[in-house]
Amino acid sequence: MSRPFRTIIEPFRIKSVEPLGITTPERREEALRAAGYNLFGLDSRDVLIDLLTDSGTGAMSAEQWAGIQRGDESYAGSPSFARFEAAVKNLFPFRHVIPTHQGRAAERILFAHVARPGTIIPSNTHFDTTRANVEAAGAEARDLVIAEGRDPSSRHPFKGNVDLQALATLLETEREHVPVVFVTITNNSGGGQPVSLANLRAVSALCRRHGVPMFLDACRFAENAWLVREREPGQSDRDVVDIVREIAGLADGMTMSAKKDGLSNTGGWLAMNDDDLARRCRNLLVLTEGFPTYGGLAGRDLDAIARGLVEVVDHDYLRYRIRSTAYLGDALEARKIPIVVPVGGHAVYLDARALLPHVPPLRYPGQSLAIELYREGGVRGCEIGTLMFGLHPDGTETPAMLDLVRLAIPRRTYTQSHIDYVIEVVERVAARAPSLPGYRIVSPPAPLRHFTARLEPR
Ligand SMILES: Cc1ncc(COP(=O)(O)O)c(C=O)c1O
Repeated sequence: MSRPFRTIIEPFRIKSVEPLGITTPERREEALRAAGYNLFGLDSRDVLIDLLTDSGTGAMSAEQWAGIQRGDESYAGSPSFARFEAAVKNLFPFRHVIPTHQGRAAERILFAHVARPGTIIPSNTHFDTTRANVEAAGAEARDLVIAEGRDPSSRHPFKGNVDLQALATLLETEREHVPVVFVTITNNSGGGQPVSLANLRAVSALCRRHGVPMFLDACRFAENAWLVREREPGQSDRDVVDIVREIAGLADGMTMSAKKDGLSNTGGWLAMNDDDLARRCRNLLVLTEGFPTYGGLAGRDLDAIARGLVEVVDHDYLRYRIRSTAYLGDALEARKIPIVVPVGGHAVYLDARALLPHVPPLRYPGQSLAIELYREGGVRGCEIGTLMFGLHPDGTETPAMLDLVRLAIPRRTYTQSHIDYVIEVVERVAARAPSLPGYRIVSPPAPLRHFTARLEPR
């Protein structure tokens, strides 16, 4: 057999281009001040390489744009919905598929029915919107990721795994307070780390033994399935579609943001087998999102997702996707810059607590590092740490599990030379890490404060 090439080939060519915002250091300084040192407050035209999120920021294919033209905007019974539903059920054969405008709408509708004060919703790690929706319903969002998942330097191949012992204890002692068990694939807040098939099987078995439904937060299901194929013994010959279907079969339902592995710029869904719960969720959907065959989306969005679900499980796409993310991670590791290892699917996470040991968590080292990447080279990342997770519903503030900066890679959007530039920017900032300041919040507390907080260096 011939030796594989080292160069990562993007398995597409570019048909339509969009200019990047090239700024001066002075302009960036001004933009930072105007945004209150909150990168969510920047005008995206002032950002050169935007790694804030991989959510809804990817490039659609020619076939998806063709789907946009095909979209049928009938209020009820649109064929776009039929194509969307068939594409979802091809991978996730749940009885009910309820479209929503994005993932958090699916979460809000589900938790409105299953969560209330006194209930506990366990997950490996809840993402920010999931946690906020659980807490908005008065319930407790409890993270039960394995110990290795809390250690950025552990090389465990499945750091998104649920701590089975902790889950078993919870179900044995407090079953009546647990309406649903969630598993996030991949585990975004814990470094984009995958969950193994073995762990998913074990969680499913525990849930079935205790009669608790298991739901997937499946935003990055295809990346998780690819990492199962690459890392889990006995899985390397399987088709990703087959792995995804097995994962779906272990669960009773799912929430989904199609802005990730739906390869779409918007959309999501809620799916489940429980007829009565689905009926109640649809009633709420009609009240706040839209009729059950569009759920807050245009028919054309449903067609874009239907096509995206075919393209996202293509092996050439996934091989490129996972290797190109690892390319960034490997380069940073080679330069001794602390990152969460092994690199997961959609992002590289810089370990700000390790790089800025002089900035205590309550002075937001992740935010400090993210600000500096923008200041240095116009690269926008996202703090995933104490600014995002440190404030509790009772008003107290504690350090988050980790202080990270996520460099999320939009799908099919940037080329290898863009990533080479990002590597240079990170390297320059890391070289002067000891001089970076901490920050304090100067605006009033707010839910999901990281989106709106204004900060000052101190
Ligand atoms: C794991 C996870 N769950 C849920 C969501 C929420 O999805 P959306 O942004 O479409 O509301 C996200 C978004 O980033 C996510 O990463």
